[in-house]
Amino acid sequence: METKKRKISIIGSTGSIGTQALEVIEKLQDKFEIIALAGGSNIELLRQQAEKFNPKFIYASKPLTISGIKTADSLEEICSNKENDIILVAVSGKIGLKPTLKAIENGIDIALANKETLVMAGDIVMKKARENGVKIIPVDSEHCAIHQCIKDISQVEKLIITASGGPFLHKSVEEMKKATVAQALAHPRWHMGKKITVDSATLMNKGLEIIEAHHLFGFDYDKIDVVVHPQSIVHSAIEYVDGSVIAQLGLPSMHIPIQYAITYPQRFEGIKSKSFSFADIARLDFEKPDFEKFPCIKLAYQAGRTGGTATACLNAANEEAVFAFLDGKIKLYNIYEITAEMMSQHRVIENPTIDEIFATDEDVRRKTREHINKLIQKVQL
Ligand SMILES: NC(=O)c1ccc[n+]([C@@H]2O[C@H](COP(=O)([O-])OP(=O)(O)OC[C@H]3O[C@@H](n4cnc5c(N)ncnc54)[C@H](OP(=O)(O)O)[C@@H]3O)[C@@H](O)[C@H]2O)c1
Repeated sequence: METKKRKISIIGSTGSIGTQALEVIEKLQDKFEIIALAGGSNIELLRQQAEKFNPKFIYASKPLTISGIKTADSLEEICSNKENDIILVAVSGKIGLKPTLKAIENGIDIALANKETLVMAGDIVMKKARENGVKIIPVDSEHCAIHQCIKDISQVEKLIITASGGPFLHKSVEEMKKATVAQALAHPRWHMGKKITVDSATLMNKGLEIIEAHHLFGFDYDKIDVVVHPQSIVHSAIEYVDGSVIAQLGLPSMHIPIQYAITYPQRFEGIKSKSFSFADIARLDFEKPDFEKFPCIKLAYQAGRTGGTATACLNAANEEAVFAFLDGKIKLYNIYEITAEMMSQHRVIENPTIDEIFATDEDVRRKTREHINKLIQKVQL
């Protein structure tokens, strides 16, 4: 059956999720029309993408002009364009929040990869989405899995989020303390952007995902469990009130959740490369997470349960600490210590406005950078 092309924009098209989304779209060319592509500083790649996919608009955080294609002034401008049926939010970190809110205000559905948006302002984002009749379809493989499993949410008892465990799952705390940036970036299962890869090494990523799941599906933190599953075949599961457990399985590829999110509720063969075989996989392992070795998960549960601006504080402190680690200024383990310190200093605002969330974000980032500079000076003395 001939269907209308879905009009899509991708913000963060030059990143790991963005480039894989374009691979999906290339396979499903007759299903999509690209309205806008937006990236940050990799303007060469954005130029190549624009030449290949011919969007109506482009945006980059550096100056870029391409003849025949209009340049948008901001990500928000792209997300205000009501021509879009759906926007894939695939930027990394806090820059996802404002454009997502713009898209929601304009009634545009969202395929959401940027988990930080919900960590910072999940209550506001989800409320606005409900008010505007906007669908938020998760791209994160765990949440995409849960989205696929849920038939009647009122009968679901709990969510079970799987975690690969990252590169340090079977390494000692001592080895983790000595970890280099290269070791932290060597994720055994997924090839992703640097920020999420470091978060996956500390398991803060899982913590952020717990908060993301709380907002997307409306479950209390007591009803969201994490289990380590190194093969990354079971992408997450739900347990119904009667004890039935429904899990979503698949080979570890982000193409599948990206495609699911941007084509929902339809399904297509798309980019699937090979058929799933239980016999080839042979075994699936599960273990409890080690909260002592990976204390960032506990910190995220704590921030989530506290609510208000606590999760925005967690997100800002963690993001600044991750940048400092990537710059070689601090050790991997310091990320937890710094984030925990910022959380303990933070005076939580309950039911914050969006302006209070942005103010918290800026304030915590400034304090985190100051704290890191003091730590560096101490080590040098
Ligand atoms: N990668 C995964 O497998 C995966 C899985 C689940 C969830 N996620 C989530 O998806 C999001 C993206 O992750 P990723 O791994 O794709 O990150 P990434 O590879 O680092 O890509 C980030 C994208 O954001 C763009 N960007 C950065 N600063 C920008 C700015 N100021 N204005 C406009 N664009 C800007 C980057 O552009 P340039 O590169 O051109 O600077 C790039 O296109 C994150 O929130 C992550 O947690 C990722």
